[in-house]
Amino acid sequence: MCGIVGYIGNKDATNILIEGLEKLEYRGYDSAGIAVVNNHKINFAKHKGRLSILRDSLEKNNLEGNVGIGHTRWATHGEPSDLNSHPHLNPGNALAVVHNGIIENYLILKEELIEKGYEFVSDTDTEVIPYLLDYYYNGNLLETVQTVVSKLEGSYALGIIDKNNPDILIAVRKDSPLIIGAGEGENFIASDIPAILSRTRKVYLLENDEMAVLKKDSIEIMKTDGTKVDKEIYNVDWDVEAAEKGGYDHFMLKEMHEQPKAIKDTISPRIDKNGKVNIKEFSLNEEYMKNINKVYMVACGTAYHAGLVGKALIEKYAKIPVITDVASEFRYGNPFIDKNTLMIVVSQSGETADTLAALRLAKEKKAKVLAITNVVGSTVSREADYVFYTWAGPEIAVASTKAYTTQLVSLALISMDIAIKRGTTEGTIAKGIVEEIRELSEKINVMLKYIDEIKNMADNIYKSEDIFFIGRGLDYYLAMEGSLKLKEISYIHSEAMAAGELKHGTLALIDRGTPVIAIATQDKLYDKMLSNIKEVKARGAFVIGVVKESNKEIEKIVDKVVYIPEVKDELSPTLAVVPLQLLAYYVALKRNCDIDKPRNLAKSVTVE
Ligand code: M6R
Repeated sequence: MCGIVGYIGNKDATNILIEGLEKLEYRGYDSAGIAVVNNHKINFAKHKGRLSILRDSLEKNNLEGNVGIGHTRWATHGEPSDLNSHPHLNPGNALAVVHNGIIENYLILKEELIEKGYEFVSDTDTEVIPYLLDYYYNGNLLETVQTVVSKLEGSYALGIIDKNNPDILIAVRKDSPLIIGAGEGENFIASDIPAILSRTRKVYLLENDEMAVLKKDSIEIMKTDGTKVDKEIYNVDWDVEAAEKGGYDHFMLKEMHEQPKAIKDTISPRIDKNGKVNIKEFSLNEEYMKNINKVYMVACGTAYHAGLVGKALIEKYAKIPVITDVASEFRYGNPFIDKNTLMIVVSQSGETADTLAALRLAKEKKAKVLAITNVVGSTVSREADYVFYTWAGPEIAVASTKAYTTQLVSLALISMDIAIKRGTTEGTIAKGIVEEIRELSEKINVMLKYIDEIKNMADNIYKSEDIFFIGRGLDYYLAMEGSLKLKEISYIHSEAMAAGELKHGTLALIDRGTPVIAIATQDKLYDKMLSNIKEVKARGAFVIGVVKESNKEIEKIVDKVVYIPEVKDELSPTLAVVPLQLLAYYVALKRNCDIDKPRNLAKSVTVE
């Protein structure tokens, strides 16, 4: 998704903007640009493609100045091109704007502007903003921006500069993330904290319909209607290295290795010294818990796959029916939501547009919403009634890994909390599960030692055109995650199947050498899985089995095997996903794919 950076101070803005944009690359983009004010003139450069193209062009033609804005674009309206890239300027190049979001009424605004004689040069929705600024400009940039913003419908995080007001930078936020960084004699705006973390740890989190006027030595925050806002500063307590690769070849590899710590950080504050779940931030009382008639679990992609496992846990221990849905479908159905419905939304970024829309619908219908998210201050976290943060640290690779495993343990703790409050699970059983949750961190460390075996498996399958993942029960949900991981970073077609469904159609695709990853970690379904594995073996499949370490006899049936340490069935996905993540990684590596930034994908999907 688009990334915004802005700078005002005494230093060379160009370097700071490019450095900030590099830190936002993980959001996904197809073009990049910057604009800088200098000597009452705006100079700009913008290009389709990677930041290196912009950097090369700036080497030939440096843009000098101490105030500027930068942008990485992920195309929505209009194809990726130099012209459609941001910043967008008014005719005459007096004002420049960077925008993240979608202006929903841009066609109407564009027509009105065309009637007034404006000629547009791009296909973007954004371009109406500098043109409206031009039309309403009265010399006072703040007032002009306020007038223009009142005409906009949709979502927008904006950074705006004006050659005639070279000592101010304006930021506006509605439904797209934007933060303000407070420095010494310099200030910043950005879509996300890593973009400015090497410059300052002091951050203001803008809320919807808020804006800020930044000068080099002051920041004034207000509502877009001009009402003053007093905002607390947020001190970032994680390290800049946490947002960088830290010696690994890719963020994805680094983030997989961070899973033991991420899990520990996520569960520790929620388990008391007696080994009981104590989720302070999730303060729904026993009476409410007892009256819950159903749970909706709504999310997208990997977060949805975590939600499926959460469903199994809540149903088993808290004895509440859980309806799972992908967020992009949820609100177009006819969900049965009332005040006794608990909605759980799961979102790493906390900015996924469909998940947010589902949350809003649930609130409208009076359900309580619990958000599981990884990003403090994200829109989902602000709009939900209750927030359970996964303390995984920034996840930069597009492929979600540590967010998934921390979502799994969060859902396990939440299911225990609800179960205890409802009295549906005995304390001793819950304590035993919590104890096992605590051991997961160490067990993941064991799984991460399989690298050589997995590399060898990757050698066997990386040339394949189709790879199948099969499982039953929770292993089927995990198969979905393994398959998604593989396809998104290696570009190999892959499907996840409930193993029992194979013979209802998909078995026809299994041929000599077809790789099948068979996950069989559920004790009560193990024998059934063995039959399914034999079915595909009989058709010549190359089978990689993922089983608990006590099931050594599988070696006689499959071609390769990965063992996971003994663990309760409900918790096995947290361990068994690790070899699947590693397999996806090493297959993608063998295929020379852009692992951290797979084609066509964005980290944070802020449009529907
Ligand atoms: O930020 P979110 O968790 O809401 O994102 C949801 C999906 O877009 C995300 O999990 C996506 O499927 C990942 N790229 C998968 O690795």
